[in-house]
Amino acid sequence: MTLLITGGAGFIGSNFVLDWLAQSDEPVVNLDALTYAGNLQNLASLQGDARHVFVQGDIGDRALLDRLFAQHRPRAVLHFAAESHVDRSIHGPGAFIKTNVEGTFTLLEASRAHWNALADEDKAAFRFHHVSTDEVYGSLAPDAPAFTETHPYEPNSPYSASKAASDHLVRAWHHTYGLPVLTTNCSNNYGPYHFPEKLIPLMIVNALAGKPLPIYGDGLQVRDWLYVGDHCSAIRAVLARGRVGEVYNIGGWNEMPNRDIVHRVCALLDELRPSGEGPYTRLITFVKDRPGHDRRYAIDAGKIERELGWRPAETFETGIRKTVQWYLDHADWVANVQSGGYRDWLATNYSSR
Ligand code: NAD
Ligand code: TYD
Repeated sequence: MTLLITGGAGFIGSNFVLDWLAQSDEPVVNLDALTYAGNLQNLASLQGDARHVFVQGDIGDRALLDRLFAQHRPRAVLHFAAESHVDRSIHGPGAFIKTNVEGTFTLLEASRAHWNALADEDKAAFRFHHVSTDEVYGSLAPDAPAFTETHPYEPNSPYSASKAASDHLVRAWHHTYGLPVLTTNCSNNYGPYHFPEKLIPLMIVNALAGKPLPIYGDGLQVRDWLYVGDHCSAIRAVLARGRVGEVYNIGGWNEMPNRDIVHRVCALLDELRPSGEGPYTRLITFVKDRPGHDRRYAIDAGKIERELGWRPAETFETGIRKTVQWYLDHADWVANVQSGGYRDWLATNYSSR
């Protein structure tokens, strides 16, 4: 028994690999291209652990995928690999189409070829689990009900459009070819190993460095935040007990405007690492809004609770405290990330704002 995980050196993928191997001896083959977002330092604690096989490679490389399937014969694919940052997708959508759409297509085709050749029992047990986002549903009006699994797809950014396209491919590979797929659409994650281009880690890292905390537009955009460990437990539940061909929304029941998130991060830093120069909120700067910025996302996670008994273990209060503490305790990780392509990215995204 083996899992093939794609994108397992990224934020959620590496949290999933660490969580999985903390609870199971089933080995993991981790295929990751190590783009700017992939960081093997996340998996340093697994060095020398034979249960973790890391392969640097692209999900669009069919020959490599065929070799990995033949060699490891995974009983499931967990597909995390993606270009994942909305702002990057605005500056350069091509990579999103390449990885999220074409890469998912190639992975589906390689999975299908492997699955077709399995004996009946293994064929029935095989799973292709596609990890996706709530952003495929588009933006909600302030008083509209939260996204259920039947909400129409209305993606607004190149990122969410590419993820929507990949969701449709996964769905079609089930309906047309019978591939046993599962899809999860999750809200915004936060937690350890989050690359500091995304809102929460960027605010922590910038505040500690005494740099501005850039809030886009009026900062009243609403997201539903989920601690990454809870996303991992939801994926484990869906992989184990989810009904084939079904979609499960995953969320934290925790809608918050960006401004409140930034204020909460600042308050925790004031408590845990006070600055001699006054409260961290002094660094908040309102900057030009993101083009096409979705106003509100909210997830109705009722289906996964009813069918699989999953609910998040962390509240936002407990999760954000753990997260801020983690960044305070891992200055070396942050320094390592910052010495790479991250710096160039800051220049591209913020210099013209
Ligand atoms: P991430 O950007 O931190 O990590 C992505 C990983 O995929 C990196 O390790 C990168 O090297 C790898 N990768 C990129 N292109 C690749 C390719 N062509 N071949 C192989 N590997 C490649 O992303 P994340 O935040 O960990 O997100 C993981 C998945 O979860 C994505 O599919 C994303 O759409 C989805 N998701 C993310 C969130 C969130 O809040 N971060 C919420 C819901 C869903
Ligand atoms: P982000 O973490 O990029 O996730 P997503 O766009 O996928 O939801 O952004 C979360 C929210 O924070 C989003 O509404 C954009 C906003 N934001 C800022 O206000 N300032 C920033 O510097 C960043 C990176 C995001």
